[in-house]
Amino acid sequence: MGASNLNQDKNKLHYEKLYANYNIQNILHWINNLDEFLASATTTETSWFALYQRNFREKIKGNKVLDMGCGDCVNAAVMAALGAEVYANDIADSSGKIVEALNEAYEFEFPIHFVSGDFLENNLESNKFDFVVGKAFLHHLELPVEEQFLKETARLLKEDGEARFFEPAVNSKLLDELRWYVPVKGRPSKFNKTDFAEWKKNDPHPDRSFSSAHFEKAGRKFFAEVETIPVGTLERFSRFFKWGVTKNNFKKWALKTETKLPRIINKPLTRSQLIIYKKPTIL
Ligand SMILES: C[S@@+](CC[C@H](N)C(=O)[O-])C[C@H]1O[C@@H](n2cnc3c(N)ncnc32)[C@H](O)[C@@H]1O
Repeated sequence: MGASNLNQDKNKLHYEKLYANYNIQNILHWINNLDEFLASATTTETSWFALYQRNFREKIKGNKVLDMGCGDCVNAAVMAALGAEVYANDIADSSGKIVEALNEAYEFEFPIHFVSGDFLENNLESNKFDFVVGKAFLHHLELPVEEQFLKETARLLKEDGEARFFEPAVNSKLLDELRWYVPVKGRPSKFNKTDFAEWKKNDPHPDRSFSSAHFEKAGRKFFAEVETIPVGTLERFSRFFKWGVTKNNFKKWALKTETKLPRIINKPLTRSQLIIYKKPTIL
């Protein structure tokens, strides 16, 4: 079995367990209160802030969107509730069960299609999609697999389509090294060698580059327009606040303010990024 298969199996195992017996009531509550949900999520949460910028919510209405690595399907459900025709893909079968339950419980204009298993083995029609999106997805792939996914993304997108990926960004080796020493929920500090090694063994992320330069270079192979937008440079300090209104207000302020930072500062210090690929070159 190749390294990529091992990585994929590790991901499947990890996420199958995470989404098993998932309760869709939260998702239903959010899509039944869509404006309120999006007003909060897109101003306080890095991934939602990033993905939904530049009028994404208006742009997807009535259009075909492929969601790669749909996971708990919250974004797939939100996009479908906004009127998009969503194809949601994941290697975890439990994501398919969530989609099934959502389609039964909510009357989407277009019920969500679940594309099961490794997306590369599903022969979806060329130039079909207006948007391909991935929220915290690409960085789960080893580099040769990512290259195949990007090639496939270019094939599946319409000529004027757009791919948007929200991913972590590691543009400073020093900052990256330092962060491993600060323990976070579910991950011990690197100071604690044994626990860290045990955690690493089960971690579904491969060792690979997450830099903006990498995603720019990887995209240029298949797209004429490539852009990375830093997200989280100031927001990352919200971890010093306890849950509550002050933390949320800080996040709101940080996400808005950091867009005004010069790129020369924002890029090395950012913690995540929105990657936009347009104009596929393999039509
Ligand atoms: C960090 S989760 C993100 C889930 C969701 N998009 C979100 O924002 O919460 C990554 C997802 O990618 C899926 N995944 C990993 N490798 C995959 C592959 N080769 N094909 C399809 N899905 C994959 C995992 O099963 C997992 O659900």
